[in-house]
Amino acid sequence: MRSKFGFNVKQIKYQRPALYPKQELSVFHDKRYGMVEASTKAGKTHSHLVWLLEQATFGVKGGNYWWVAPVYTQAKIAFTRMKDALPRDFYTANETDLKITLVNGAILWFKSAEKPDNLYGDDVYAAVLDEASRMREAAYYAVRSTLTATRGKVRLIGNVKGRKNFFYSLCRKAESGEPDMQYTKLTAYDAVEGGVLDLEEVEDAKRHLPEVEFKQLYLAEPADDGGNPFGLKAIELCIRPLSTKPAVCFGVDLAKSYDWCVIIGLDENGVVCSFDRFQKPWNATVTEIRRIVGNKPCLVDSTGLGDPILEQLQDQRGNFEGYHFSSASKQKLMEGLALAISNGSIGYPNNEIRKELDEFEYQYTRTGVTYSAPEGLHDDCVCALALANMIRSKPISARPSVRSL
Ligand SMILES: Nc1ncnc2c1ncn2[C@@H]1O[C@H](COP(=O)(O)OP(=O)(O)OP(=O)(O)O)[C@@H](O)[C@H]1O
Ligand SMILES: [Mg+2]
Repeated sequence: MRSKFGFNVKQIKYQRPALYPKQELSVFHDKRYGMVEASTKAGKTHSHLVWLLEQATFGVKGGNYWWVAPVYTQAKIAFTRMKDALPRDFYTANETDLKITLVNGAILWFKSAEKPDNLYGDDVYAAVLDEASRMREAAYYAVRSTLTATRGKVRLIGNVKGRKNFFYSLCRKAESGEPDMQYTKLTAYDAVEGGVLDLEEVEDAKRHLPEVEFKQLYLAEPADDGGNPFGLKAIELCIRPLSTKPAVCFGVDLAKSYDWCVIIGLDENGVVCSFDRFQKPWNATVTEIRRIVGNKPCLVDSTGLGDPILEQLQDQRGNFEGYHFSSASKQKLMEGLALAISNGSIGYPNNEIRKELDEFEYQYTRTGVTYSAPEGLHDDCVCALALANMIRSKPISARPSVRSL
């Protein structure tokens, strides 16, 4: 019996599964660094799982081999795909640690890049960073450090996603012929030619997706703004020094599991004049918000955990109003901010706020458009700014009444 990845179980003979020529050349080469910018469904995960398996099978007995994905769920998908493709008596698997130990003792680890600090410390003999354009650069630095003692090879693969990410920069380096780096672009038409994607499916996507999105996802051509709803140029044009004028309104994004509480105040011209970003226990957060906001109109993200906090803030104060995030309400909120940015009626300093605006993105999904920071990044400044902008734009009569303190 032959398993999916080409093992003859009885004799443990291995034959590489068929990869289409361009797919095979993109990963099986002698360069230490390999970069692949590819269409969705071009077979990059598949070919790189095969590569990592070969590195481990014919590599160092007992060595570590890493698959790194932006988030845990993606790492788990790759783990399952690898496991399902191996003959049962060739490995043991640990479902909790997402770890596959081969009979030669080599260990395949499937890791999330969410907390790059957790990626330091090991010696790794070969690594793949899947969906690299959706990861933080810090994750690459961490993985790179683990390959130092071993002089291990690394492969970075992904869809293109704008030009503002480390993967884009590394690909340009590789493309320009940097020593020991190989660059490959795989378009949807390459995958069609290779027999892994249907032409009809590609043509359908072309008809239904916005052109910019189709070019990124299927032709591996980066958009200038990479799906940024505000536009990088427009974001830059709204940069102003922190205003010294008093605030006329505030927006508050409350910290959820791992992010920050951000409070942003706008002056009468819509320029940021007050900016606070902190992580504190809930009671201290409430005290801090009340101190900073005073009696000015303030729109607070009241989603989930935010609801009881809003109630505390509203106790004896009429100037706090809640805004509940759903995909529709977030879209409305962000469209308001996009409008303010495009017509220059808002201003902010060149700090964390600008950084988050630059990184923010929208994505087309089957159910509509979603607005958020890329996986692993924050969008609390963007949300606080958008909330402040929304309450500023409301007619005075529609604002929460302001009672005296
Ligand atoms: N050479 C091949 N032979 C047979 N099937 C293949 C081959 N390459 C890829 N596939 C199959 O095509 C599908 C898409 O492959 P894969 O998931 O590797 O693409 P991808 O480029 O990583 O896509 P995504 O954009 O979703 O990350 C999978 O079902 C995979 O098993
Ligand atoms: Mg993939």
